Amino acid sequence: MSGETSLPDAPRDRLARPWHDLRISVMDRCNFRCPYCMPQSVFHDDFAFLAPSQRLDFDAIIRIARLSAGLGVSKLRLTGGEPLLRPNLSTLVQQLTSLPGIDDVALTTNGVLLGRHLDALHEAGLSRLTISLDSLDPVIFSQMSGGRDVLSTVLSAIDAAARRGFPGGIKVNTVLQRGVNEKDILPLVERFRHSGIILRFIEYMDVGTRNHWSESAVVPSASVLERIAARWPVEPVAPHYRGEVAQRYRFTDGAGEIGFISSVTAPFCGDCSRARLSSDGQLYTCLFADEGTDLRPALADPDDQALDRQLRHIWQGRGDRYSEKRNPEPQRASGDRIEMYYIGG
Ligand code: GTP
Ligand code: 5AD
Ligand code: SF4
Ligand code: SF4
Repeated sequence: MSGETSLPDAPRDRLARPWHDLRISVMDRCNFRCPYCMPQSVFHDDFAFLAPSQRLDFDAIIRIARLSAGLGVSKLRLTGGEPLLRPNLSTLVQQLTSLPGIDDVALTTNGVLLGRHLDALHEAGLSRLTISLDSLDPVIFSQMSGGRDVLSTVLSAIDAAARRGFPGGIKVNTVLQRGVNEKDILPLVERFRHSGIILRFIEYMDVGTRNHWSESAVVPSASVLERIAARWPVEPVAPHYRGEVAQRYRFTDGAGEIGFISSVTAPFCGDCSRARLSSDGQLYTCLFADEGTDLRPALADPDDQALDRQLRHIWQGRGDRYSEKRNPEPQRASGDRIEMYYIGG
């Protein structure tokens, strides 16, 4: 299993968890308006997104990643909003893949702009690619992306990515919502069987406060697995690393693998080794945090010592295990809880 090794002096959080994974949001804007993430009624034309000048520049992102690697981080994931809206993203990828200690740089995208950036991302050394795709039905796709009729563009980009190939592979993420895209489950599985692409079903989560989440809209992974296994038998696959987000299964007929991300019904906080950096330099130690730490004052100091000390201190003070505490009672969302578009999921 990868992600298990720790540097001798690497910090542990209050629950003895090491820090392996940094998710970097490079852009809070998105060209979709998925109702479960950025409902159009809230994220309208006048919504105050960050100004470009508020975003960390590439030098700052690289510096944070380099110091994080010194504290145990080996995996980076670039997120948004939509990360491919950030100009020259492949330049950043190239710089991040060159950092000592970083052995995995992944990207999560909605796929619309992917086709035109594929070659550059591949050349930059991107290890892994994850594309969000909620439906194969153009009408439901449009509904779940906020009226973006670009299903064929996304499907072409997924096919092109599969032809191009990425060293750590390609995944497709599907957020399931009861009564919205459940009927896509089997068609999606059928489409990606034999493709080498790993399809993962995500339980709709109560991230942020603006998506009107309700537990009744969650499709429990166990019921999804049951439906799939009734058609194509599957068997569990051992986790790749401790605290892996997805529970993995393989088809017994050799057609490939699928995964389930079940933050609501089967939380995975126990080994959570992830921190999240917003595009304006706030570091969060949980997806459900209501408060981050501003790294910009320490970034203003050209000497690395203050920033290094702050990163270590933040990780050591971490006690988050939101999804575990959520069960059996969902927590009431405070007005300040961070939003998915801002922190990238
Ligand atoms: P790898 O394990 O690196 O392949 O990626 P991943 O599964 O962590 O990343 P991805 O960006 O594909 O995330 C898939 C879904 O899992 C998204 O909806 C994320 O918000 C969710 N997710 C990822 N990490 C966490 C986490 O630490 N806690 C919770 N609750 N959800 C997470
Ligand atoms: N619940 C579950 N997954 C979500 N995503 C965005 N918002 C939510 C939510 N409320 C997913 C996206 C993408 C990934 C980064 O997070 O669809 O696949
Ligand atoms: Fe949809 Fe992802 Fe954009 Fe959110 S960030 S609106 S989930 S495409
Ligand atoms: Fe980690 Fe927070 Fe997700 Fe739990 S809820 S797995 S602590 S990010």
